[in-house]
Amino acid sequence: MSERQQEYIPALSFRFLTPFFDFIQKYIVRDVRYKSLLIDQANIQPGYKVLDLGCGTGTLAMMAKEAQPEADVTGLDADPEMLEMAVEKSASQNIDVKFDTGFTDKLPYPDASFDRVLSSIMIHHLKTTEKEATAREVFRVLKPGGELHIIDFGKPVSLYGKLLGPFLHGFEEANDNIDGKLPDMFGAPGLKTAISGHFYTFFGDLAFIKGIK
Ligand SMILES: C[S@@+](CC[C@H](N)C(=O)[O-])C[C@H]1O[C@@H](n2cnc3c(N)ncnc32)[C@H](O)[C@@H]1O
Repeated sequence: MSERQQEYIPALSFRFLTPFFDFIQKYIVRDVRYKSLLIDQANIQPGYKVLDLGCGTGTLAMMAKEAQPEADVTGLDADPEMLEMAVEKSASQNIDVKFDTGFTDKLPYPDASFDRVLSSIMIHHLKTTEKEATAREVFRVLKPGGELHIIDFGKPVSLYGKLLGPFLHGFEEANDNIDGKLPDMFGAPGLKTAISGHFYTFFGDLAFIKGIK
């Protein structure tokens, strides 16, 4: 457990919505579809060590373990309530994933300890300085040749996304996403980053980002 007193934005902004997170993800956001695409992109091999940043209720981490049962998968999140749901869900489905409490800008792991770092719609919860610190931490914990795979809000590309853009721009934490700055921010510590695709949701256009150390 982290002993730091640090603020963070809960999964659906308001705590009373937390119990409905998985329902909304599954039926409104269609998260399994873009999480499957992210896992395909990550190409996880047997023996890999995989970290899911801001894992929430553990869906992506559990899907990664199911996709490659011989990988060692860890999910990290700041919210103990989300992690409680993740632990219960993985136990009930008998999927062996480790869950840690912590903050993405101060990862409780040694240098060069992961082959893959994944993250699904959590980067837009971070202020600019937290994103920059998270990018440095991702670079630090990745092994040489290791890869970062993010799906999150990106610069709008669809007409619908462009219409929603100004609304999303009202949230400080989402601005770097909507302005298309994530590849450069995560590239700054030394990763070679690029946008690798898009996914369109009711809440806005998502971008896939790939980074290689
Ligand atoms: C929208 S949810 C996404 C959860 C999960 N990745 C998914 O796609 O289902 C964002 C998650 O990021 C977590 N979070 C927000 N700020 C964080 C931080 N600074 N460090 C770690 N986790 C954080 C929240 O607790 C929440 O579970």
